[in-house]
Amino acid sequence: MKTILITGASHGIGLATATLLAQQGYQVFGTSRQPQSSTLNGFTLLQLDVRDEVSVQHCVQTVITQTGHIDVLINNAGHSLSGAVEEASAEDARQLFETNFFGVIRMTNAVLPHMRQAHSGLIINISSLAGIIGVPYLGIYAASKHALEGYSTSLRYELRSFGIHVSLVQPGDIQTDIVAVPHCNPVADYNGIRERVTAVHDANVRHGPPPQKVARAILYALQSPKPRLHYTVTTGQEFGVPWMKRLLPDWLIERLIRDSYHMDENPNQKGE
Ligand SMILES: NC(=O)c1ccc[n+]([C@@H]2O[C@H](COP(=O)([O-])OP(=O)(O)OC[C@H]3O[C@@H](n4cnc5c(N)ncnc54)[C@H](OP(=O)(O)O)[C@@H]3O)[C@@H](O)[C@H]2O)c1
Repeated sequence: MKTILITGASHGIGLATATLLAQQGYQVFGTSRQPQSSTLNGFTLLQLDVRDEVSVQHCVQTVITQTGHIDVLINNAGHSLSGAVEEASAEDARQLFETNFFGVIRMTNAVLPHMRQAHSGLIINISSLAGIIGVPYLGIYAASKHALEGYSTSLRYELRSFGIHVSLVQPGDIQTDIVAVPHCNPVADYNGIRERVTAVHDANVRHGPPPQKVARAILYALQSPKPRLHYTVTTGQEFGVPWMKRLLPDWLIERLIRDSYHMDENPNQKGE
């Protein structure tokens, strides 16, 4: 039976995915920083904070001790950071990267020796459409996902000869309670437009498809004999984003993004 370790399975996409994979008969280990129980929806729930190397080592070792192998690692744990890029200190950005990017490196490095020994494995990293395009007032989050894209694409080259696959799942806005921590150095000049763009982000997440849609894409990827590099999960106008990025000139993409976030609605607004 395949053993799957998925980080951040207490809520949202991670919970939906761990639940679906357990229903499909996989042996699933999910994680939470503060697990409320040892099992949830048919999977085992372990304590893990991806920012903490000791916690990562302990979590991976627990799974290895119980099953002897990890066939699939799904790096899902993450959160967001909202506000103008200028409003984020380097420390704010570092905090976000500790989870969204360095957490992935910690988990991957802890699992890889076991996958290399088995000469097989699959690593699925949960990226975002914000890993393909810049997003106003989510700039640091977008940076963390762009970093994840570059890392995962390079990793895929390096691991192929070890029989290990690497895939990226790129959801658009998904209906979860994802936490977008506000930047802690607000700059008054962004007042008004910051709130307007953030309201669009919030509405997009509220009206997005349920996390089960991402879970089904992840199941599809892990059942594929040759998993692709990218799996995009979108609906509505987001559907065209990956094509738009490939086919349209930068100026037109910029125009479309500004329009979709109503950035030019009131030219007298501060921040224009
Ligand atoms: N929702 C969207 O619109 C969307 C779109 C694109 C990509 N994504 C990506 O999808 C992934 C999941 O997001 P979501 O929307 O499902 O968010 P969510 O509902 O807030 O779930 C986030 C999960 O991450 C865990 N987590 C947070 N910080 C952690 C840490 N330091 N160590 C270990 N676990 C941690 C949380 O567990 P505990 O709090 O229990 O520790 C929780 O289970 C993220 O990588 C996110 O960037 C989301």
